[in-house]
Parts: sequence; C-alpha cells; structure tokens
Amino acid sequence: MSEEKRIPQHVAIIMDGNGRWAALRGKERYEGHAAGVEPVRAALRAAARHGVKYLTLYAFSTENWGRPAAEVDALMELFCRSVVDETPELVAQGVRIRMIGDRNRFSEKVQRYLAEAEARTADGRRVTLILALNYSSRDEIVRAVRGIAARVAAGEMTPGAIDERTIAAALDTAEYPDPDLIVRTSGECRLSNFLLWQASYAELLFTPVLWPDFTEEEFDRAVEEYARRDRRFGLVKR
Ligand code: FPP
Repeated sequence: MSEEKRIPQHVAIIMDGNGRWAALRGKERYEGHAAGVEPVRAALRAAARHGVKYLTLYAFSTENWGRPAAEVDALMELFCRSVVDETPELVAQGVRIRMIGDRNRFSEKVQRYLAEAEARTADGRRVTLILALNYSSRDEIVRAVRGIAARVAAGEMTPGAIDERTIAAALDTAEYPDPDLIVRTSGECRLSNFLLWQASYAELLFTPVLWPDFTEEEFDRAVEEYARRDRRFGLVKR
C-alpha cells in the first residue's frame, strides 16, 4: 500500500449481480454475464489510472459448477472468447493475466486458452489481472495444506516449522500481496469463500450496483472510500 496517496496496491472484486441484471431486463442469465465484460475493462482502466498494481476478479467459484450446464458452458465460452479478444489490448496496456484456482477441472480447451493468455501477457508490468477461476478459498487452503503435509511426510520440514509464511507461500496467491480492498457488487454483504486467508486486514466495501452497471466512476468511488478508511492492522492509532 502506498501510504502517502493511500492508493490500494491490490483491489479484489466479487463481481456479483449479473443474473439479477439480466432478469430485470427480461434477458437470459448468460446475457448478464456477457454484459459483465465491459465492467471488467472499466475496472482495469481505472486500476491502471490509479496505479493499482493488482486487480483480482472472482470470475468462477468452485460452487458455480452447480449452475445449469447451459450457463456454465456459456461462461466457459465467454472466458475463452474474452481472453482471446482482449489479449492485444491487454498487452498494449501493460496488463499481465494470471490465474488463481484449480485449473485442472477445466476442459483442455479452456486450460489452453488461459495458458496462452498468461503467456502472451507475461511481460505486462503495469497491472496484474488475477482471474479467480474454479476458485474457492477453502479449496485453496485444502490444496495448500496437502502440499505442506506432503513436505512434512517426506521429512523436508517439521510440523513445528510451519508458520504463517509457510501457509501464505503454499496458497495460489503466494506471489501477490494481500488485497488492501475487497469490493462486492449487488448489495450482498459476504465474502462467499473468496480470499479468506488473504482478507485478514482488507478493507471491505459493499455496493448495491449490479456488476454489469459497474463503471470506472464506481471504481474511483471505491478507491476514494478506501483512502478515508483508517487501517490499523491491530495496532493503535498513531
Ligand atoms: C456472479 O453473478 C457472476 C459470475 C458467476 C460470473 C462472472 C463473470 C463475468 C463478469 C464475465 C466476464 C468476466 C471475465 C473475467 C471475462 P451472478 O450470476 O451470481 O448474479 P446473480 O447473483 O444476480 O444471479
């Protein structure tokens, strides 16, 4: 976090409300998801403008597989199409795409598209766009604990040597700073299995705006609200 300007280094967004946006207009749910692509562009533009270095978007949870097959298929198509269509612009803007979540459950096609987007944008230095896909925090923690347990079983470390850094380093987010600000759209006030470990000291902001209506100005407002918050990290006010 930059203390002087109070700009969050890492903003994470739970993009919610696509289905309700569609229902309000008599549209199919997938049309709400399609309408959710432009706000992704807007959030990225605003993040770059503010100097936010990491933008994490919760795009598909491990629970979302339980949605109707047609909606899941439409989302997979949308992710593939979006990463292909947007990659040239992302490269031009200096955006690097990364992923968190368990990508093994995706079809080979989706995995290939995601890997290509990561490879093509690997040199981006302005903003890192982290897509949470087939992600849930508990799943991430379970996978991390399995990895640590395997190291203990192999005699590489003792249980007593496990500390917060061991766990943070075993999470999908090992390379990234914790989010400073988590925004959720659509008026729901919960984290829904998103970045539970990493959210320990994050500022939380809930806005009633449905994700397809989210604009650069909404992002600006979130950053302004963040700047007003008094972050103490468990310490006393100085
Ligand atoms: C939650 O709204 C949204 C999703 C599960 C999908 C998010 C996907 C996009 C915004 C598409 C564009 C993203 C990228 C990365 C290209 P919901 O369906 O749960 O809405 P509801 O609660 O109103 O039903």
